[in-house]
Amino acid sequence: MITLEQVSKTFAARSGPVRALDDVSLHVEPGEIYGVIGRSGAGKSTLIRTVNMLERPDSGTVTVGGRELTGLDGADLRRARQRIGMIFQQFNLLESRTVRGNVELALEIAGLDRAARRARSGEILELVGLTDRAGARVFELSGGQKQRVGIARALAADPQVLLSDEATSALDPETTASILELLRDLNKELGLTILLITHEMDVVKALCDSAALMREGRIIEQGRLDDIVVRTDSQMSRDLFPLGELPEPRGTTIIEITFVGLASEEPVISRLARTHELDVSLLGAAIETIHGKQTGRTRLELSGDAVQVDAAVADLQGQGLTVDRVRDAR
Ligand SMILES: Nc1ncnc2c1ncn2[C@@H]1O[C@H](COP(=O)(O)OP(=O)(O)OP(=O)(O)O)[C@@H](O)[C@H]1O
Ligand SMILES: [Mg+2]
Repeated sequence: MITLEQVSKTFAARSGPVRALDDVSLHVEPGEIYGVIGRSGAGKSTLIRTVNMLERPDSGTVTVGGRELTGLDGADLRRARQRIGMIFQQFNLLESRTVRGNVELALEIAGLDRAARRARSGEILELVGLTDRAGARVFELSGGQKQRVGIARALAADPQVLLSDEATSALDPETTASILELLRDLNKELGLTILLITHEMDVVKALCDSAALMREGRIIEQGRLDDIVVRTDSQMSRDLFPLGELPEPRGTTIIEITFVGLASEEPVISRLARTHELDVSLLGAAIETIHGKQTGRTRLELSGDAVQVDAAVADLQGQGLTVDRVRDAR
């Protein structure tokens, strides 16, 4: 649904040129929720702004819904852009207009007549749960309600794609959760493809099917969340399961086991010690619910000779578990 190929963008800043996007390629499947995560200044906003050509790349191509936007301008580009909704951290609403007025303005720009605007705004406000606030002015609303107006406005022209730039960063955790839930419902009910930018792993965890990690204008990792969770060499995976620093070397082997959708890892660990006559100690564990599945990672220290350790690891792998040898005994 969204494809970026080798997109680069450099800004001229007073201190010299800033390469905000450096050869970025990315593919978002139809109906997918795709998260881009990274620290401040990584290039996330620049990336998402190239998707609707708010920022024109210096090189590379951007294709949305089968149309190459980098090849369009004027009226063609405006028309293509209409099918791409966007929401922002600071909402970007007309504060003195009513809730309905904000949505209807977007519908007017999309070319609907008065009667159609009234009907459509009613439908959209219902969709985002704001029917009873339709006549309120935006400045009277809470942050969460404002973002619902932002979402309603973004949906006005019936987009295929919704772009979200830190849409929940100005909200408290509870309100964030309710907005994320709304986005998930819209994704399911409307088949809306969502590309979102965030600096919070919690947002990725709660919502995304796929994710990419950006650093200094580059995508340094990407993939489906299901695949990322079982990769211990991945920075995103380490952020999902923070197990802390490794202890000082002390002649032992350290392994990490990733459990996906398993009721409990306890039997696995106690059986390991018994079967292989190893000393097993637990160094750390982290459990997360990802896509509704309990997923956990456990770091274990094994004291035993190389043959015992090899046999234990092979045994765990034979049970279908993902095992990484983080440190071998020396
Ligand atoms: N219009 C601009 N002119 C000059 N430099 C810019 C412009 N827009 C962005 N930059 C620079 O490009 C880099 C990437 O900025 P960008 O806003 O994409 O980062 P970000 O990942 O969204 O950060 P944040 O999490 O703080 O929003 C930064 O170094 C920024 O200063
Ligand atoms: Mg930004």
